[in-house]
Amino acid sequence: MNPIDNPYTPGAGTPPPELAGREAILLQAVNAIQRSLNNKAAKSQIMLGLRGVGKTVLLNRINQLAEDSGNHIAFFEATPGQALPEMMTQQLHRLLLKLDRRKKIGKDIQRTFGLLREFAGIFKVKIGEFEFSLTSGNLTGDLNIDLADMFVSIGEAAKNRNTVVIIMIDEVQYLDGNDFAALILAMHKISQKQLPFLFFGAGLPQLAKLAGEAKSYAERLFDYIPIDRLDYKSAQEALEKPALNENVSFEPDALKQIIDETEGYPYFLQVWGYHVWETAKASPISLNDVNKASLRAVSALDSGFFRIRYERLTERQQEYARALAMVGHLPANSTEVAEILKINVRQAAPLRDELIKKGMAYSPSRGLITFTVPKFEEYIKRNY
Ligand SMILES: Nc1ncnc2c1ncn2[C@@H]1O[C@H](COP(=O)(O)OP(=O)(O)O)[C@@H](O)[C@H]1O
Ligand SMILES: [Mg+2]
Repeated sequence: MNPIDNPYTPGAGTPPPELAGREAILLQAVNAIQRSLNNKAAKSQIMLGLRGVGKTVLLNRINQLAEDSGNHIAFFEATPGQALPEMMTQQLHRLLLKLDRRKKIGKDIQRTFGLLREFAGIFKVKIGEFEFSLTSGNLTGDLNIDLADMFVSIGEAAKNRNTVVIIMIDEVQYLDGNDFAALILAMHKISQKQLPFLFFGAGLPQLAKLAGEAKSYAERLFDYIPIDRLDYKSAQEALEKPALNENVSFEPDALKQIIDETEGYPYFLQVWGYHVWETAKASPISLNDVNKASLRAVSALDSGFFRIRYERLTERQQEYARALAMVGHLPANSTEVAEILKINVRQAAPLRDELIKKGMAYSPSRGLITFTVPKFEEYIKRNY
């Protein structure tokens, strides 16, 4: 088939040709935004899921829907080692400029700009070319207090303009613990005042626990939305609809084989779709086509997606990862991993924590450990 028509989009955050099985999640987000606009209590949301389930794609989609209905969004991705003020200031500045355009010469916005400049000064962030160092005594230098004050000021400006402000953060698990605590506290203030200001975050499953550790009330402040693999019907749609648009169909056993091999994980569905398109000579796509494409898909993943992640680990961390894969069932008990490594659990704990910190593993419940990358254990078993 013509590779130019290949509709599938394996990638990080790449919009899929068909966003299958996420209607309820999108509706919940849109409803929260609408409630917030109507001055009703609305909860901020945190999407939790493994790598490649489509969290970034959902955040982007919600961003687009919110913007299309006239709301204002600041979107960023957390990276390890980057402080929250540094991450936010530039985007908040842009957001204020856009809010300002809705209603000229707003005093409230001027005040908020002032706060933001002072915020940038106190926390040593540059906005464009300028590095602000002025302080007018409105802020304290304590992020816990200052972030909340700034959010409240922004929220009030949004309320005066009949719009909702939304902060979106991807990869929230990489936020520094104190920064995350300050963010939760600020959102707490905002929700007490019922301002039209929401937070939408996405990250790895350990995030719920991190939030709870940062602030005990975080559990009630946010809706945690689990983002999982697609069920059979949605996986089928994700594969079939884009092909049908190109007048290509699948034999039922071909479709079933792809869904079995990918276990319905969105990223893998795109990878398999892409390779089967490259492999098949004509429609309908057959089981034989899929079997050939599977070899290609696996080898592409092994030399790209999986290998990059494996190589980001230190030698000791790789040893831990190999032991985890060797246990034979996941999640594994930390003691089982330690046994394979021939060390005790106390000695293994720092390695386990490093893997979690790197976003490669998480603990689904006390004492248990598993990978955040689906099928990573299969990659390890195939290659090491
Ligand atoms: N609902 C969906 N249906 C089909 N493909 C999807 C869906 N959601 C995401 N994808 C695809 O999965 C891949 C991973 O999406 P991404 O948002 O980067 O995942 P995550 O942020 O959870 O790691 C992308 O190639 C994207 O096109
Ligand atoms: Mg992502």
